[in-house]
Amino acid sequence: MKKGEIKKICCIGAGYVGTPTMSIFAYYCPHVDIVVVDINKSRIEAWNSTEPIDFPIFEPGLENIILSCRNKNLFFTTDIEKSISEADMIFISVNTPTKKRGIGAGKASDLKWVEASARQIAEYARGYTIVVEKSTLPVRTAKTIEKILFDSQNKENNKKNKTFSVLSNPEFLAEGSAVDDLQNPDRVLIGGNDEFAIEALSNLYKNWVANEKIIRTNIWSSELSKLTANAFLAQRISSINSISAICEATGADIKQVANAVGLDSRIGQEFLRAGPGFGGSCFQKDILNLIYLCNFYKLYDVANYWEGVIEINNWQKSRIPRIIVNNLFGNISGKKIGILGFAFKANTNDTRESPSINICKDLLEEGANLSIYDPKVEHFKIEEDLGIRKKDLNNNDYYGNYQICKSILDVALGSDALVILTEWEEFSDILWEELILKMRKPAWIFDTRICIDFNRAKEAGFNIWQIGKIQNKNDI
Ligand code: NAD
Ligand code: UGA
Repeated sequence: MKKGEIKKICCIGAGYVGTPTMSIFAYYCPHVDIVVVDINKSRIEAWNSTEPIDFPIFEPGLENIILSCRNKNLFFTTDIEKSISEADMIFISVNTPTKKRGIGAGKASDLKWVEASARQIAEYARGYTIVVEKSTLPVRTAKTIEKILFDSQNKENNKKNKTFSVLSNPEFLAEGSAVDDLQNPDRVLIGGNDEFAIEALSNLYKNWVANEKIIRTNIWSSELSKLTANAFLAQRISSINSISAICEATGADIKQVANAVGLDSRIGQEFLRAGPGFGGSCFQKDILNLIYLCNFYKLYDVANYWEGVIEINNWQKSRIPRIIVNNLFGNISGKKIGILGFAFKANTNDTRESPSINICKDLLEEGANLSIYDPKVEHFKIEEDLGIRKKDLNNNDYYGNYQICKSILDVALGSDALVILTEWEEFSDILWEELILKMRKPAWIFDTRICIDFNRAKEAGFNIWQIGKIQNKNDI
């Protein structure tokens, strides 16, 4: 490999980060061949699907990018050995969920997929290979990866002349806006101390990112910056959600408060939308990871501080079913309640840690008969997340029942209430005057995203509860 020149990239992990990231690399670096590998055969088949295209992840704008590069300089395969052995640079982009069992369960990240990736690289790589941490990792994970790789390079029978350099290059994309985030990043962060490797990775980014936006740090700062960024974003959401409850109690309006506060340039307008609690695969996991690190380094007060962010999030999720029950005369047993939105945010089919899961489970516990609609989440996923198949509902501990619907109208038929849990754009255009005719009265809307046309729904005759807003002006 010539100085700074990368011809072949392999990315381990064809998920929400691996595929969009590598697709953008392929799009802007047509001179580089990029192979995305995964142990999940059906995921790879889906990325390779043609007529019909049936990609496993819904991400606006991604399909066109992939179709313009696929089988030209972007490839999807399960042939991990070949892809690693041919690569000059390898991205580790595998899942790092919270550990479910054993030491650190419930807090520490489960690094078994990262370790497995490092071992695959150690075994199959040839010559000089730059290994890039793309997954979000606890601080000092690079040490573990280096240990595994350097042990293999130092073996006497190193016939493949393996040598490695490890960099940290965390990803800051958000689902639903991944393509835009990748094309126009606020910054690209590269942590490491091998100048040659850093330059090689920077040169790739420079094909579409301005040099000033590519910042370099030591490897531990890079790993910690990623956890910190997510913790700060989540902290803002817990902060505004805590204020939403004060608004409901006092008559202040959360949108007005968020706007007034956010206009302070030191604070800014972003991430001040009150909602049903943050979801997604990363915020909770990364804060738990930070808490685990704090405890490991005996920084118990710091750990407690970050615990608070998660506690408020859990509290926000749990107070919504209580509000619904209270407003429906203290009883929802046998009542039909429509759920609009199951994804953890709009413009994604991802349901990981979606607040909808907890809220639906709590409503089922109260005996509700739920009808659930989401424009992008597959039906089997909703069943999987609720942890209970529809056909088993009569023989289990749950008191309620649910059905998955194909339209908003199906959800509304005979319902007492509609609960908006994801801010899909189509929910802002609902013809409430038509929908109310299909519902039982008094008909309720519980809008946890403040995304409906309030005046139209009010005129149609709905009772409306919105997060962070006073229900009845006479109460103040
Ligand atoms: P994901 O679960 O969607 O994808 C990970 C993929 O890695 C899976 O398809 C899995 O089969 C594959 N995999 C696991 N071990 C493998 C192995 N040994 N060999 C080959 N393939 C293997 O996860 P994701 O959402 O893409 O997240 C990946 C990482 O990126 C996580 O650390 C996450 O914290 C971080 N991250 C995620 C986002 C996001 O928006 N989802 C954003 C920034 C960072
Ligand atoms: C988040 C970060 O925004 C990304 O920078 C980061 O790369 C990513 O996590 C990660 O590491 O996985 P993501 O979880 O995809 O991205 O989506 P966000 O837009 O951050 O939303 C997360 C959750 O917070 C959603 O449930 C969303 O509805 C909620 N949210 C967001 C609010 O309730 N209010 C807001 O103002 C913003």
